[in-house]
Amino acid sequence: MTEISGKTVVITGAASGIGRGTAIELAKRGARLAISDLDRAGLAETAKRIEAMGGKVSTYLVDVADRDAVYAFAQEIESAHGGADIVINNAGVAQIARVDALSYEDFEWVMNIDFWGMVYGTKAFLPQIQKKGEGHIVNVSSIFGIISVPSQAAYNSAKFAIRGFTEALRHEMKGTRINVSCVHPGGIKTNIVRNARFLQSTQATAREEAASGFDKLARTTPEKAGETIANGIAKNKARILIGTDAKIIDLLQRILPSSYGKIMFRREIGPLSGAAETGEAKA
Ligand SMILES: NC(=O)c1ccc[n+]([C@@H]2O[C@H](COP(=O)([O-])OP(=O)(O)OC[C@H]3O[C@@H](n4cnc5c(N)ncnc54)[C@H](O)[C@@H]3O)[C@@H](O)[C@H]2O)c1
Repeated sequence: MTEISGKTVVITGAASGIGRGTAIELAKRGARLAISDLDRAGLAETAKRIEAMGGKVSTYLVDVADRDAVYAFAQEIESAHGGADIVINNAGVAQIARVDALSYEDFEWVMNIDFWGMVYGTKAFLPQIQKKGEGHIVNVSSIFGIISVPSQAAYNSAKFAIRGFTEALRHEMKGTRINVSCVHPGGIKTNIVRNARFLQSTQATAREEAASGFDKLARTTPEKAGETIANGIAKNKARILIGTDAKIIDLLQRILPSSYGKIMFRREIGPLSGAAETGEAKA
């Protein structure tokens, strides 16, 4: 069990979507929030909503891909709050591109934010948690950290790597009071597709088309995602699956570990896979 009330919770990428939903849910449960993002206006909006509920929150502009900035952020949290109790490495970006057309620069953009951002956030805050002797680290992967989909090799690489790193850390922390969870959301109705990089782009309107297609497919709200993450933290779950879609895909991967693709990719599937079959990104 992880106690939430009265604890200092750091959440990255909290200006939008799952990060915002989780921040608000944890504030409802009595946590003090330290939220970060690159998006100043979105961060202020999240803070406003928390304060309107009588919650405690402070905001920080931090690029998770900037290692020095993440360490400086951890230092500020140590000075201002005596360290974090719970850290949720949530900030992330998506990208649609086939491997044959994926430049190293674009690949690194995803890895630097999604993977290295999570590593920096874990390693910068872990010493504070170890000093306290208890706490919780939560890293947000994806259902695409459990199965791979065409046109998402970079995103899949980052999200599988988050799972590998996080499960190793959980094993390392066994026998301590430091808990570690990996989150695997299915489709959550957020701005992830609107903010995604679409490579091989030919149509100007296609980003909006992909985003509205995603909005229809993604059944879970960010508020519900926040609730599921908060419950998973409270129960110290190793793996937090969000949404029925995530549960079904996880089951399919267990039943057909190497041939799930035969069932899944007969037609377009999945929140971010609109361009998967043709190799043409839809924006
Ligand atoms: N929405 C989904 O269906 C879904 C599914 C699986 C996993 N996820 C994961 O959930 C996490 C949150 O995504 P979301 O769906 O809420 O998307 P979102 O786009 O609504 O929110 C992501 C937030 O991360 C911030 N961000 C991006 N780059 C950053 C950087 N370099 N430094 C700091 N902040 C940065 C953005 O400004 C934004 O506020 C991501 O890691 C994403 O991969 C989302």
